[in-house]
Amino acid sequence: MELALLGGAPVRQKPFPIWPDYGDAERESLLEVLHSGSWGGYNRKVSEFEGMFATLHGVNHAVSCANGTVALEVALRSLGIRCGDEVIVPAITFVSTATSVLLCHGVPVFVDIDPLTLNLLPDAVEAAVTPRAKAIVAVHFGGHPADMDRLPEIARRHGLALIEDAAHAPGGAWRGVPVGNFGDAATFSFQAFKLVTSGEGGVLLTNSSDLAERMWSYCNQGRRKSGGWFEHFTLGSNYRITGFQAALLCAQLQKLPQQIETRSQNVGYLRRLLTDFPGLALPQDDSRVSRHPYYLLTLRYDKSAFGGLPRDVFLRAVQAEGIPALPTYPHPLYLNPVFHEEALPPCRCAQWKAAQNYQALSLPESERICKTGIWLEHNLFLGGRTDMEDILAAFDKVRRQADSLRSFSSASGISSE
Ligand SMILES: Cc1ncc(COP(=O)(O)O)c(C=O)c1O
Repeated sequence: MELALLGGAPVRQKPFPIWPDYGDAERESLLEVLHSGSWGGYNRKVSEFEGMFATLHGVNHAVSCANGTVALEVALRSLGIRCGDEVIVPAITFVSTATSVLLCHGVPVFVDIDPLTLNLLPDAVEAAVTPRAKAIVAVHFGGHPADMDRLPEIARRHGLALIEDAAHAPGGAWRGVPVGNFGDAATFSFQAFKLVTSGEGGVLLTNSSDLAERMWSYCNQGRRKSGGWFEHFTLGSNYRITGFQAALLCAQLQKLPQQIETRSQNVGYLRRLLTDFPGLALPQDDSRVSRHPYYLLTLRYDKSAFGGLPRDVFLRAVQAEGIPALPTYPHPLYLNPVFHEEALPPCRCAQWKAAQNYQALSLPESERICKTGIWLEHNLFLGGRTDMEDILAAFDKVRRQADSLRSFSSASGISSE
């Protein structure tokens, strides 16, 4: 059968499950808020959701907020990050993990990542600690918990705060302990494509009641829970979610455990199907990861197993076969102009001193994954086994006929690895 990119019939014609997944539970919950007449951030659904989210993760306090970016900023501010403080972050993550540091006038220090999980390399973190370092932000990338044996230990030994950026990992667990219990605080995002979503939204988790109070106050214009509406004790903003967002989140959260189970089954099956498939490497199963919510599955592409076919041509061909596989980030974060000299002055104060020359930085694994990484997104794993078989069939069809794409490759000018 000819490749779909060259005019043949695609392996798959039907769509994968769509996201967000919603139904009567979301509708009824939204209507409850609508009819309550209390639409703002003080609707009781907000505290109901916070309670549910804290319970799911076995954490004492949850503070909801406008989104995952704000959650990171509030966590850093509440932990006392100030002008010139260095905060160690991975070079491969969404931009907010590092720009939230700049928003607090801190200095992001980028370190390299594990080539398969895309999580912080503990040795690289240790090597990046200086006397100015104040915190580590560990992303549980794609839902795979970062090394929660070593990173908390490194943070403790150096007197650093640890924040878990768990935007990809609600419901995840390491050695039986849910994410959110390893750092001083954890942050989550409920943006439109996240595993639990209200279109936009976020939450902070912490086991410290002092920190929870500071976080809540920052999100509520410096109020105190025990104070009056017009009493403002510290500088804060309005980062509340609405009752409608909380209504969606209450309904969404109920489904998360079953969805994690479905995704785990399907990823496990795909892993078995790909066992002897050359040129596509998956992260190894890690027995310390007791629950992986599978926001993203990252594959590493080796073009030598595909007759030298560049990754981006492989992806075009696989997409044409009906499999929406995607390239990873186009470059490590430090190559974004926002981190470069010209853009930095608004964030600077007298204490601010660059820890790295971001423009000249080159972290090998971070650079490599941008050229060789492939993402399969979570909704692909919400169906059944035949979906996994279609993914394998498309990969296999393109690999077998890679030679027929040689002229397409040179005409398209794509030169990825
Ligand atoms: C790892 C990570 N951290 C933080 C965020 C920011 O979340 P939000 O889009 O809700 O601001 C995202 C969003 O995609 C993310 O992927």
